[in-house]
Amino acid sequence: MDQIRIRGGNPLRGTIQISGAKNAALPLMAACLLSEEPLVLSNLPHLADIATMSNLLSELGVNVSMNGAAPGGHGGRVFKLDAAETSDTIAPYDLVRKMRASVLVLGPLLARQGRARVSLPGGCAIGTRPVDLHLKALEQLGATIELSEGYIDARAESGLRGGHVVFPMVTVGGTENILMAATLARGETVIGNAAREPEITDLANCLTAMGADIRGIGTDTLKIHGVDRLHGASHTVLPDRIETGTYAVAAAITGGDILLKDTRADLIEAVIDVLGRVGVAFDETPAGLRVSRINGGLHGVDLMTEPYPGFPTDMQAQFMALMTVASGASMITETIFENRFMHVPELRRMGADINVQGRSAIVRGNQKLSGAQVMATDLRASVSMVLAGLAARGETLVSRVYHLDRGYERLEEKLSACGADIERVRDAG
Ligand code: UD1
Repeated sequence: MDQIRIRGGNPLRGTIQISGAKNAALPLMAACLLSEEPLVLSNLPHLADIATMSNLLSELGVNVSMNGAAPGGHGGRVFKLDAAETSDTIAPYDLVRKMRASVLVLGPLLARQGRARVSLPGGCAIGTRPVDLHLKALEQLGATIELSEGYIDARAESGLRGGHVVFPMVTVGGTENILMAATLARGETVIGNAAREPEITDLANCLTAMGADIRGIGTDTLKIHGVDRLHGASHTVLPDRIETGTYAVAAAITGGDILLKDTRADLIEAVIDVLGRVGVAFDETPAGLRVSRINGGLHGVDLMTEPYPGFPTDMQAQFMALMTVASGASMITETIFENRFMHVPELRRMGADINVQGRSAIVRGNQKLSGAQVMATDLRASVSMVLAGLAARGETLVSRVYHLDRGYERLEEKLSACGADIERVRDAG
């Protein structure tokens, strides 16, 4: 398996192009199943998870064609997704186990085809992550759901009907699944305690362009008036706020100065706020978002992960790497996932001083990190080790690079263009 080798210590300076958001692209791709007319999506990132979703859609009979990339070389890709003749309603275990977001085909399949058989995703490295809330909500829209042989068997032969769904906890994927299903349900659906992540707003805007009637976009109450059919549309995927935040941390941890292009500060206000308290300056310029460390170093601060607009759980591991080299102590509390401190033992092997107490981690800063061989269990944990490696003395070797390839497009290329000493070591086997 490939590894990433980093020799730390170089302050990063230069420009990084931010890609389209993976977590927006995946539900947007699933939305093509709602219409018999094609959906054209641009600014799609070139990532393993996007390929997995393409494979799943192809398996369901969707004609997926790549209409090239946007001009300028590294711009996002353009996909045409044509679900005129869907042939299957089964999402098999082999694809769903690779990527939990595969479950996002459930709502659209059920709404348009009246049935769906989708493998249960099972556990993952950061917790049990059930889909019970998706299923309960679909039942409230009139679906009959049975679990058998590891699959979700969902039926709504005479169509879904509108209903009132209040999620007992904020769920991003649950909100997306029900929002898509409700666009074709008879009558009105109200989703209370809906997730408000920008990726949901992006999905709702695309569905609106396809002819859906959605009110309350961007709020925690979505009102959807079902329509008979949706039509084709073209939509541009919004910038990846987690990639933006990750490279902002790269600038901070190396004492560098990076211009992040084609992104939006308003997507990461909570991250900007916290990093500002740490000692990182953000400057919105016509050329992009400039991130640099303010003279005087980094200061430890406390934070808690929360649903949007709070501090995102997907930035927690990266922020922890940063706190290991800041002055003073910081407390990082994870409230979204039950087991999202898997990066702690690996960061400790690089010299970090971190103690976990239940759902909080106490990080004692001022540590001189040193390179080590490390491996990660998930995407954001992996990238936290890359960030620590950029600041560490000596050589860091990160294995299980496939995690990084799921969510970071051309990571080593983007970082080395800013002066990082980083390369992919190909497995000879
Ligand atoms: C999405 C993101 C992921 C991010 C997460 C939280 C995608 C593809 N992934 O994941 O990167 O970390 O939001 O911002 O967009 N839960 C239940 N039952 C359910 C559904 C969720 O108990 O039916 C729990 C989960 O276990 C978790 C919490 O709710 O503890 C939040 O999960 P959710 O918001 O649904 O995350 P995902 O949509 O899976």
